[in-house]
Amino acid sequence: MAESRVSELLLQRLESQDGALESLAVAAELGLEHQQVVGAVKSLQSLGELIDAEQRTAKHWELTDEGKEIAREGSHEARVFQSIPAEGIVQSELMNLPSGKVGFSKAMSNKWIRLDKNASGGPRIFKVVECVVDSVKEKLLLVLQGKADHLDEKEKNELKKRKLLSEVTIKTYWIRKGSAFTTTVAKPETDLTPEMISSGSWRGKKFKAYNFDALGVMPDSGHLHPLLKVRTQFRQIFLEMGFTEMPTNNFIESSFWNFDALFQPQQHPARDQHDTFFLLDPAEATEFPMDYLERVKKVHSEGGYGSQGYQYDWSIREAQKNLLRTHTTAVSARMLYQLAQQEHFTPVKYFSIDRVFRNESLDATHLAEFHQIEGVVADYGMTLGNLMGVLKEFFHKLGITRLRFKPAYNPYTEPSMEVFSYHEGLRKWVEVGNSGVFRPEMLLPMGLPPGVSVIAWGLSLERPTMIKYGINNIRELVGHKVNLQMVYDSPICRLDS
Ligand code: PHE
Repeated sequence: MAESRVSELLLQRLESQDGALESLAVAAELGLEHQQVVGAVKSLQSLGELIDAEQRTAKHWELTDEGKEIAREGSHEARVFQSIPAEGIVQSELMNLPSGKVGFSKAMSNKWIRLDKNASGGPRIFKVVECVVDSVKEKLLLVLQGKADHLDEKEKNELKKRKLLSEVTIKTYWIRKGSAFTTTVAKPETDLTPEMISSGSWRGKKFKAYNFDALGVMPDSGHLHPLLKVRTQFRQIFLEMGFTEMPTNNFIESSFWNFDALFQPQQHPARDQHDTFFLLDPAEATEFPMDYLERVKKVHSEGGYGSQGYQYDWSIREAQKNLLRTHTTAVSARMLYQLAQQEHFTPVKYFSIDRVFRNESLDATHLAEFHQIEGVVADYGMTLGNLMGVLKEFFHKLGITRLRFKPAYNPYTEPSMEVFSYHEGLRKWVEVGNSGVFRPEMLLPMGLPPGVSVIAWGLSLERPTMIKYGINNIRELVGHKVNLQMVYDSPICRLDS
């Protein structure tokens, strides 16, 4: 029976009742499992003050499995009695019947049957009464109907001894009409839909209250998102090549580290509102290494280190503006500055894979946030040749062997190269990354020794992931439209190198 129907019957019973109803008795009267009534009580409770239900523990008699069989088919003694014909039955034959042994001794002590030991053909059993009353079955039926209190203690204990009844403690409900009692329950809404809002029909509706005690469905296991799987592979490659991971746990950065430290002029279009998310609160960063900041100011406005700079009035207010970092090169800048503060320079290989943000128009391949993979190598005398060699090694480990480099422009690298690889599936050269040698205007103000050069490259994590997992629209990979089943079903990432 559906739970709503049980609730309905329960309310009807309460209507003609002044006192309390006990859930166990209701279950017996309706011929239901107690649990079904408990379910109805709980769902009615969730609707407000319809009913008052008080939980109590009660001892209650239940039929054992054997007890249930007897309530259905009769006691062993009754079954034995029924199977004896008028001319009697040979004792050994009767003993072989399913209820034979127990039934025989009980029927004997009830004086329903007699044994003639001297009958011809062996001991024989005869009925001594015409008909019998199967009181064991009748008592069990009473218990089944919830009328155990019609039996006295002695009777119940006897049935318990025969393992036909057992006494169990259960939680029952004492149910009364509540202050908002009614027998007609309008099924409350569980969802507030856009239609209800636009038509205003939500005003007249009753909504189901949240059950804050409800336990969530336990997930069978966690699942790694494809981006995480591909990230693991990239991290593995960097680690194999001896790179150390940079700490990238600051999504918020000042313009100073994101742009100025990278010799990106303050009028650069990438700093515009259209490309960068600026923060309102806190809108400005206040702590900088001031002597370094002065050197950055100087190299922008006047030049130095053999450069003429940009020749404009550099403003600290512009550098203070907080933003969501637009590239992980901001982290590389912080790390290289730290490296320059060492007493003696040591060569380093750094990498990072983390999230960046750009105020871009969204389309099938662009979101306002994505992940960058970045590699940085600093040592004396690093050249464009070293960069090409490291890139070749890096992409080789990814399974990408055909590479081409194209001259490009970044404010912070000179020379700069875009990296293209031949895509066998698409049958064309596709851009896979950007790279370059960091400019002296960036490195020397940090305090790095003049002979040190730094090569670096960056690529997105999303692009290779989409290619690897055959996803054409980035909204299927990231965001609220992601099909979780896709996440569950995606295999681990193996790069075919
Ligand atoms: N920061 C560059 C970008 O956002 C990538 C890059 C990193 C280029 C390092 C050169 C050197 O595209």
